[in-house]
Amino acid sequence: MAVAFTIEVNGERRDLVVDPRTTLLDALREHLGLTGAKKGCDHGQCGACTVLLDGRRVNSCLILAITQRDAQVVTVEGLGGDHPVQRGFLAHDGFQCGYCTPGQICSAVGMLGEARKGWPSAVTEDDGSTLTEGDGSTLTDDEIKERMSGNLCRCGAYANIVPAIAEAAR
Ligand code: FES
Ligand code: FES
Repeated sequence: MAVAFTIEVNGERRDLVVDPRTTLLDALREHLGLTGAKKGCDHGQCGACTVLLDGRRVNSCLILAITQRDAQVVTVEGLGGDHPVQRGFLAHDGFQCGYCTPGQICSAVGMLGEARKGWPSAVTEDDGSTLTEGDGSTLTDDEIKERMSGNLCRCGAYANIVPAIAEAAR
């Protein structure tokens, strides 16, 4: 039995009728034609499907779409192409095949928001020296790597992803 509900995607209200087992990732890709978010592992392990859900980064392959009635979703398409993180990836060649890139970019946008709120990571110094609330520009490479560790790149473009994100943080 299909279920009808409404969700806001990239600023637009969208009506959906889906099998209740449909993940948010499949709803975006198969029902709304937004193919930016990628299906890598489909098990919450690679981050290719990362989108922003009510402002927080999530693995959309792990979320049932119908549990997100009236939620606000932003996919890489919704960032508009000129977001500082997108500019950073272009400036630093932060991608090779580009498969992981939409997830990396959405994750980085969410991560920078977390850093600006002063949320610590596993490598944040206790004295706060690597993180200043309200300012993501103090993120070290180690902080960026730790905070982005849920996003895997099969091409091994990590070396350029870190400076791409660091530039966006400044
Ligand atoms: S496809 Fe969702 S984490 Fe890999
Ligand atoms: S650029 Fe190819 S998987 Fe990351």
